[in-house]
This record gives sequence, structure tokens and C-alpha cells, in this order.
Amino acid sequence: MGKPKIVLGVSGGIAAYKACELLRRLTESGHDVRVVPTASALHFIGAATWSALSGKPVSTEVWDDVHEVPHVRIGQNADLVVVAPATADILAKAAHGLADDLLTNTLLTARCPVVFAPAMHTEMWEHPATQENVATLRRRGAVVIEPAVGRLTGVDTGKGRLPEPAEIFEVCRRVLARGASEADLAGRHVVVSAGGTREPLDPVRFLGNRSSGKQGYALARTAAARGARVTLIAANTGLPDPAGVDVIQVGTAVQLREAVLKAAADADAVVMAAAVADFRPARYAQGKIKKKDGQEPEAIALVRNPDILAEISADRARPGQVVVGFAAETDDVLANGRAKLERKGCDLLVVNEVGERKTFGSEENEAVVLGADGSETPVPYGPKEALAGTVWDLVVRRLA
Ligand SMILES: Cc1cc2nc3c(=O)[nH]c(=O)nc-3n(C[C@H](O)[C@H](O)[C@H](O)COP(=O)(O)O)c2cc1C
Repeated sequence: MGKPKIVLGVSGGIAAYKACELLRRLTESGHDVRVVPTASALHFIGAATWSALSGKPVSTEVWDDVHEVPHVRIGQNADLVVVAPATADILAKAAHGLADDLLTNTLLTARCPVVFAPAMHTEMWEHPATQENVATLRRRGAVVIEPAVGRLTGVDTGKGRLPEPAEIFEVCRRVLARGASEADLAGRHVVVSAGGTREPLDPVRFLGNRSSGKQGYALARTAAARGARVTLIAANTGLPDPAGVDVIQVGTAVQLREAVLKAAADADAVVMAAAVADFRPARYAQGKIKKKDGQEPEAIALVRNPDILAEISADRARPGQVVVGFAAETDDVLANGRAKLERKGCDLLVVNEVGERKTFGSEENEAVVLGADGSETPVPYGPKEALAGTVWDLVVRRLA
């Protein structure tokens, strides 16, 4: 089998330079990439750059190399088309089937998965015309990544920024592996919590835990690649925002609860992968707690934090909402997991054993997913995204 063939469409946005980094990642990871820029895109980055980086000819019009019928062949032969950045204009053309240059012709002839990574000013993104075009493209099966929030052209900030190339690359890799037809979470809103809460003792100290947030981020990325609208509630992770995911940063268990309850109100599924502190200091010292000569330190009194998983399981915001919990156990893993599942009242509980290479901070995980229906789904040691895939498979089955 040859290298997977990717068409990288680049349209005329200021973020076109970021597509160079995406192109590099795609080629270096063994893909055969053909760049098809629009004429406007060449005002930002010239054809020489695209041609040199891809090692292939570059044209914007259907009138070059006509004997090879590029307006049809490029799309027909592609395994994936990704348009990054996608302008408001290219989204409109794609939604309405216009074909006035090589990229729009390619979009009409492609029968492979198509990913759009829009980037534009907030007003353009929020305009009903753009929103309707995005909805049309999604309905037809295209993956349209939500733009990130941040600095836009000039001094403006807001929603409309192109997600980081590394994140767009991850979306492409996942869509290539599964196919856009596997967008089995399209039209769904899912909430994922990730990371570990920090419970402050004084302005410089906190009680925390070792959760890195990587498993929650893998869940968020995977759900986005499968078409879901994803709200990721991140506690102290320091990880880059996954492409196409709305990220809400929180610090403590109480803040995490508030954010989860709000986001869960219209969610089809809530996956609680964050490590939420069971207890917090009963008293927060306004000033740094000092050593006192000749005195032992005071014991730290703790109070219970709210049990968010039990709360959202008992009081579902929507009928049929699927709730998934996580449990890290050190011994008697399955028995403790089964007891926790019953105590919490969730639909699925991902139980993993805390060990040397597993769980906290690592790229890999191994788990058993217990179902309230008595099911047990073992997930062998492997990347956290494989476990994420299994969790969403089980969620999709319950949503259906
Ligand atoms: C400096 C500059 C920056 C622009 N940035 C964007 C952008 O980020 N997103 C967008 O949708 N349009 C942007 N535009 C407008 C597009 O270039 C314009 O709509 C063009 O017709 C798009 O053509 P294309 O979709 O064929 O590439 C920008 C224009 C200029 C002059």
C-alpha cells in the first residue's frame, strides 16, 4: 500500500503561514501531500514555498496541466482533504457547490473525508451565513473544526483563530484512521473533565494530585474527531487546547463542579476523567503559613468536597444522558471499581490500576470499563487515545 494521499487546501487567510507547519507534519509522518492553494492564499504564502515543502507542482486554477484533468483527479485520488485555514469564502463555496478554481473543484470530486479548519474574524465566524454554511457542511459529513479563541489579525482577539497545526494534524490523523463516516458523535454535545484539582491552603500552597490531564484530552480530541461538540473542563493541566474543543479552565473541585453542571445542562454525555480532590482544607489562610520557632506545625483540618460524579449521575440534566466516571485504584481493582460504580450511580466506570508506567502522566493506559448493566470491557495496555476510543464506542451504544 502506498502512502496515504492528502490534499492540503489553503485559502486566503492571514493564518496561511501556519499551514506550512501542518504540511511539514503531514509529510514527515509519511503522507503524500499535494497543496492546492487558492489565488488569495498566494498573497500570503507564495507557490514556491508550497512547491518546495511538498515536492509537488502547485497551481490554483483548473487550466494548468489540463491533459491530466487535475480538477477531477486530485479529488478522486485523495484519501483526505484538509482545508487549513478555511476562509469564510471557501466555506460558502463548499457549502453551495461552487467550482471556480482548483480547490473548489477538488472539494466537489473528493469522496474521502474532508476536514475544514476555519479561521477568520469573530464577526465573520458568527455571521448567520457562515454558521449556516458550517451546519450544511457538517450535515454532509465534513469535519469542521471549531476555531480557537485568541489573538486574531491586528489587535483583535476573540473566536476565529486557527487551532495550532499540531492539533489540526491530530484531527487529520484520527479522521484518516477512522474515516469521516465514523462521525458517530455528530450532532452530540459531550462534556469531558480532565486534570487534577488543586485545593489551596494559603496563597502559595495547595493539596493536589498527579493527574496530568492527558487521558481527558485524548477523550476530548477523539470525540471532536468523531464529530461531537466538545466542552473540555481542564483543571491545572498546562496542555495545549485540542483543536475544535471549547476549553474551560478551572482550579478547584468547587469550580470544576460549577463548570461541569453548567456545561452538562444540554450534554448528551459527561465523562469525568479529572481527578477531583475528595477533601479540601477547612480553612484558607489569607497569608502564607509561617514556621514558628520551637512549635510543631498545626494539623491541617479537611472538609469533604462535593461528589460531582454522584451528583450528576443521580440528577441527570437530560433524559438519556450518559455519565462516565474514572477510578484509579491501587489494589482489588475490579471489586473496588464495581463498588464505586454502584455507589456513584454512573453508566460506565473506567477503572485503572495506578502503577509504574500507567495512568498518571504517562502516554499509555490500561483499564477495564465496567458497565452498570454488568458488562466488563478490558482495554489492553496502549495509547490513551485507544482507551478513549473504547469509551466513546460504549457511550455511542448507550446513546443509540
Ligand atoms: C490581510 C488579510 C487577511 C485576511 N484574513 C482572512 C481570514 O483570516 N479569514 C477569512 O475568511 N478571510 C480573510 N481575508 C479575506 C479573504 O482573503 C477574502 O475573502 C478572499 O476572497 C478569500 O479567497 P479564498 O477563499 O479563495 O482564499 C483576509 C484578507 C486580507 C487582505
